[in-house]
Amino acid sequence: MNEVHNPYAPGAGIQPPELTGRDNFLERAETTIKRAVQGMFSKSFIAVGLRGVGKTVLLNRVRDIAKEQNCKVAMLEAHDDKDFPSLIAPAIRRILLDLDRMETISEHVKLSLRAFRSFIRSVKITYKDLEFSLGVDPEIGVADSGDLEVDLPELFVSIGKAAKSRGKVIVIILDELQYLSEKEMSALVMAMHKVVQEQLPIVLMGAGLPLLVGKMGESKSYAERLFEFPKIGALDYTDASSAIVEPARRQNVNFHETALMKIFDLTEGYPYFLQEWAYVCWNVAIGPIIDEGDVEKSTPRVITRLDESFFRVRFDRLTPREKQYLRAMAELGSGPHRSGDIADKLKVPSNKLGPCRSSLITKGMIFSPSYGDTAFTVPLFDQYLKRAMVFSPWNDSE
Ligand SMILES: Nc1ncnc2c1ncn2[C@@H]1O[C@H](COP(=O)(O)OP(=O)(O)O)[C@@H](O)[C@H]1O
Ligand SMILES: [Mg+2]
Repeated sequence: MNEVHNPYAPGAGIQPPELTGRDNFLERAETTIKRAVQGMFSKSFIAVGLRGVGKTVLLNRVRDIAKEQNCKVAMLEAHDDKDFPSLIAPAIRRILLDLDRMETISEHVKLSLRAFRSFIRSVKITYKDLEFSLGVDPEIGVADSGDLEVDLPELFVSIGKAAKSRGKVIVIILDELQYLSEKEMSALVMAMHKVVQEQLPIVLMGAGLPLLVGKMGESKSYAERLFEFPKIGALDYTDASSAIVEPARRQNVNFHETALMKIFDLTEGYPYFLQEWAYVCWNVAIGPIIDEGDVEKSTPRVITRLDESFFRVRFDRLTPREKQYLRAMAELGSGPHRSGDIADKLKVPSNKLGPCRSSLITKGMIFSPSYGDTAFTVPLFDQYLKRAMVFSPWNDSE
């Protein structure tokens, strides 16, 4: 069939033609934002799930909802090589300048601009334009201690007051939260804690890999009171089928039930894979009914596409030893696996694997679903590893 009309949307953060199975999440997010607009508190959200389950896509929808409700929105994506203050500063600056530009002068907004100026000086953000285009002096003694766990809460309180003085809600949307350091995560939790205590209109909507929960450390008990951590996972058969069937139906194309079952089998209901399979099936099929044979024809092409993009991007950033560690996990199956079993496979004592394991966690490749267990953050990654490399134990002389 003609690729020009192909409705499917494989790719990170790309809005699917039919967003299924997430009504509950979206309703709750909408309620939270609407309550905030009414000046009422609801827990903020942090969506937790593996890669490719649709977290970013949900955050995009949350952004749209927040904009419809006239909120001031900051949408940010954390990276492992960028610190949190530099990430959030430009967005806060924009929001504050926006609030400042409204008709009347607000003392709270001016004060917040000064606090912000102190903040960017104290965290040593060097963007010259950030500091100088503000047109205010720093507010000495506010958000300038140099300790993020003190300064970020002070900054949030001051921007919260600024927003409140303008009758606005600020919605901070943070993707890839697992890349925040423990210190940054704790500062963020403290900041939201203060905001809630003072009943200020800031809502946080985040998403990240399951390992982010472990990063909350001591701030975890606070976090559990402030946030909900809805789990975003694979779709069940009904939702997976509608995600595929509905966009096709709009163009008078149908999927045979056996084709849907086959796709569900291969993808285990993971949204990214569903989009990939449906996309290639569409291109391969003569139509207007896509059957099991079309799925079979598509599969090798889909796997090549996935191997070259979705799986490959992260794999390429690993050291040879890290790759072998993951390959040993794959050898054991889809997981989770006991650390001891991985060590046995690699023929090294468990304690020697510690640094490699932590670095794989930092890189967002694995996480620990429970004490002593290790699991992949990418669904079906074990199958990819088996295609990509041969297994061998660690060689101690390396
Ligand atoms: N609920 C859903 N139904 C169908 N497809 C979805 C759904 N959620 C996400 N997708 C598709 O899955 C892919 C991955 O989505 P993304 O938001 O990037 O995942 P994540 O941020 O969790 O890694 C995209 O191609 C997107 O269109
Ligand atoms: Mg994402």
